[in-house]
Amino acid sequence: MSQFVKIFDTTLRDGEQSPGFSMNVAEKIQVAKRLERMGVDVIEAGFPVASQGDFDAVQAISAELKEAVVAGLARANLADVDRAWQAIQEAAKPRIHTFISSSDIHLEHQLKMSRKDVLKQAIKAVKKAKSHTDDVEFSAMDATRSDREYLAQMIGEAIDAGATTVNIPDTVGYAVPGEFGELIKYLVENVANIGEAVVSVHCHNDLGLAVANSLAAVRNGARQVECTINGIGERAGNTALEEIVMALQVRRDLIGLNTRVQTEQIYPTSRLVSSITGIRVQPNKAIVGANAFAHESGIHQDGLLKNKITYEIMTPETVGLSKSTLVLGKHSGRHAFRDRVKSFGYDLSEDQMEMAFQAFKNLCDLKKQVYDEDIEAIIGDEVIQIPDKYRLTFLSVTSGSELIPTATVQMEVDGKVIKTADLGNGPVDAVFKTIKKITGDTSNLVRYEVDAITGGTDAQGSVKCTLEKDGLTVIGRGSDTDIIVASGKAYINALNKLHYKRTDLTTDVDRTL
Ligand code: KIV
Ligand code: ZN
Repeated sequence: MSQFVKIFDTTLRDGEQSPGFSMNVAEKIQVAKRLERMGVDVIEAGFPVASQGDFDAVQAISAELKEAVVAGLARANLADVDRAWQAIQEAAKPRIHTFISSSDIHLEHQLKMSRKDVLKQAIKAVKKAKSHTDDVEFSAMDATRSDREYLAQMIGEAIDAGATTVNIPDTVGYAVPGEFGELIKYLVENVANIGEAVVSVHCHNDLGLAVANSLAAVRNGARQVECTINGIGERAGNTALEEIVMALQVRRDLIGLNTRVQTEQIYPTSRLVSSITGIRVQPNKAIVGANAFAHESGIHQDGLLKNKITYEIMTPETVGLSKSTLVLGKHSGRHAFRDRVKSFGYDLSEDQMEMAFQAFKNLCDLKKQVYDEDIEAIIGDEVIQIPDKYRLTFLSVTSGSELIPTATVQMEVDGKVIKTADLGNGPVDAVFKTIKKITGDTSNLVRYEVDAITGGTDAQGSVKCTLEKDGLTVIGRGSDTDIIVASGKAYINALNKLHYKRTDLTTDVDRTL
């Protein structure tokens, strides 16, 4: 059996099912390239039939990547499989990933189909996928609540039909490690042709056990783990890539398995995903949280000073965490800037690079010291945000202890310039009211968060606005040395995302099988 565990990243597909998540194609390409560079084996780029936006993203990623397998998800029906193939056919290494439920709960209450019919449909879909490409993955959704014998039969028949990877999802995050390891062992021992396919697992984190379950699975024969950066995903999320990879690396003495992930890329990738999605990483999150390598206790600090091995099981450098570095300043040229941006893993066009450079120069006028995080914020804000229906062109606010806060905002709406003013309870309220007046926006502001990107009073403020409308939630982000301007940018970014999501959904297909 292989000593390698394949890492299948589904940040762009299952991760996209996180509430508030929305990325444009350019943002998804940046993430996909970063994942490829990190050494991920398979990148699930999206669910092409779900919407035109998903299709476009999967197609664009397929055209870009050279090393990683690009997977497109498809329900087990012929139209979905064909659509997935259309999206990935230009990929250097295309994979169709098709799925259908295997649990009686899903068969009875959702699909309203018999076990026999579901099996037939699964096999037809796998065969269709195989007619397009050799690399076919089959998933038995809700596997952990399925009858074991039926599951084993389904997996065996999928392999006979041509599946080269068989995935066992814990769709609802119900399993516990011993039990899940046992299930994998059972399948390895009872599916006669299991040796012809790679066994994969896909765990959700509803009980906080996704990583533990994935580890139990690899110790029992699974050789692919599906996971996401920062563990984002549907509900409580998926197995966190950084945690499973580092658990395998740190405990190789016990488990004896490797991945191809270059672990030094973990932290920058985590930051990229968090900054693009606006989904913040909790400070005590393992591996990539702000406190993951911070030692507070005096006894621990004493031990560390004597020998790091006393309280550190891995070094921050192993996961690519280094101190914020003072990167560039007012006198830095294009060359140095370009090198720095490339070192973060961004792959920008000439125009994008120039846009970022101009924004950097503007920032240098406002801020003495420009850090890596500042540059990443610039790229996120100025270069790869979604195509703008709404654009902020001017913002001015008067406020103070004796004044009624008043905002004047000028915006372009579909290229048309509109300027107006309004009052508010505070400066941010005044800005948001004015933007609403211009755009006619009726969404609800669910959350408003302000952070400093780096230390110091001249730090850029990073603002996130979560808006909700008609069941859709989006997180907009904006940064600026002036937090009122950052707030305006974040609100407008959220409005653009909402518009993008609503337009994309008008092409959405029926979500049942
Ligand atoms: O959670 C799940 O079962 C899935 C499948 C589509 C693999 O995401
Ligand atoms: Zn899932």
